[in-house]
Amino acid sequence: MKSLKPPPMKKLFVKTYGCQMNAYDSARIADLLAPLGYGAATGPEEADMVVLNTCHIREKAAEKVYSELGTLRALKQDKKDMLVAVAGCVAQAEGELMLKRAPVIDLLVGPQSYHRLPEMIAKISRAGGKALQTDFPALEKFDALPQAQTSGVSAFLTVQEGCDKFCTFCVVPYTRGPEHSRAPEALLAEAKALVDGGAREIVLLGQNVNAYRGHDANGKIWSLARLCEALARIERLARIRYTTSHPRDMTADLIDAHRDNEKLMPFLHLPVQSGSDTVLAAMNRQHRAEDYLRTIERIRDARPDIALSSDFIVGFPGESDADFEATMELVRQVKFAQTFSFKYSKRPGTPAAAAQKQISEKVKDERLQALQRLLLEQQDAFNDAQLGQTLEVLFEKPGREAGQLVGRSPWLHPVHAKADASMIGRLGKVRVERRTANSLKGALV
Ligand code: 5AD
Ligand code: SF4
Repeated sequence: MKSLKPPPMKKLFVKTYGCQMNAYDSARIADLLAPLGYGAATGPEEADMVVLNTCHIREKAAEKVYSELGTLRALKQDKKDMLVAVAGCVAQAEGELMLKRAPVIDLLVGPQSYHRLPEMIAKISRAGGKALQTDFPALEKFDALPQAQTSGVSAFLTVQEGCDKFCTFCVVPYTRGPEHSRAPEALLAEAKALVDGGAREIVLLGQNVNAYRGHDANGKIWSLARLCEALARIERLARIRYTTSHPRDMTADLIDAHRDNEKLMPFLHLPVQSGSDTVLAAMNRQHRAEDYLRTIERIRDARPDIALSSDFIVGFPGESDADFEATMELVRQVKFAQTFSFKYSKRPGTPAAAAQKQISEKVKDERLQALQRLLLEQQDAFNDAQLGQTLEVLFEKPGREAGQLVGRSPWLHPVHAKADASMIGRLGKVRVERRTANSLKGALV
């Protein structure tokens, strides 16, 4: 009898930039290439293949990729056989141009076509040359990918991709393509596999995750709230989160789910970007500041202990001092637990990049500093309020000190406590004694 020879061991290094959706895609790329014999490398030096999974959201993110490609070019001089692949949104946005600018690249795949990597690798190992794939092939991707294998205690699950909203500053509708929701049956199966693999928390991902509208086999449409309800029935799944949401899609049933679904964690990332109605309109956000505040009020009525998070952009073209002050005022009213704030960055091909009244770097810097000072005060206040409280923590992994584990509170704080390794993947009650800038420390009770 002929013995089946396992494929030769090769090493893969995937470097992820940008959002959590890229982190999910990177894990799936690793799953996809495992049957080809690729195991994980600790760095590019020992890798037979390097994948850069790139982000195009701001100029800085895209620049980092080119600097990494420079490093890889030097490395490849001694390792001629090493394959260099660029995946993600820079690959999608720049396509052929990128191959010209960085000839070190062997393979280029957009975020909707990385399932084609195995055939592309086969092609260039047979015929040499380069391979490029940046179509939006009607979202066959998820059907073509193998069942997710890699899962920690907290696992990502992409339920929705793409965006039809076309905010005037944003590249996502161009790089990730049109909005598409995966079928609920496929998602429940993937969630069960993740839980069987050890996940106790699932973070549902989408560029517009609360716009999720999945069609089931009976032609019925599921909302995100309904999907969360079905997921909550998976017994060993303890926690559900979702990100990132658009204020316009915070529907009544989803707000109610924050009251009724015990597994849905009391933390919501709901980007507002600006507190000025003029800027919101110029951004094409399709709501006013007042609408956002009303939505927050309704969410807090449903779930009083909910912690809120947001993204902000300062220095959007045309933003006046008064517009910026309106953002500060909105922040004072809401009181955020955690936030991300950015200086507006011109993105090629987006409408705002062509706007006349661009804001100077100096003004952007000043506004960002003022905003971040206020946001940091709010974050500190929120974290201080945890001192002396007993929080339910889902332990994820060993902490920095011996005998210590780290996990997450319901409000996403990293929490460190002395605990036995058998607590990984389990919930424990921790009394918070101290805190550092971003994390809490305490003792198991
Ligand atoms: N400039 C600055 N920030 C941006 N974001 C998206 N596009 C830009 C841009 N051109 C921010 C938004 C978004 C987050 C993911 O990135 O705040 O919510
Ligand atoms: Fe970009 Fe706006 Fe879509 Fe969010 S909603 S991904 S900011 S276009």
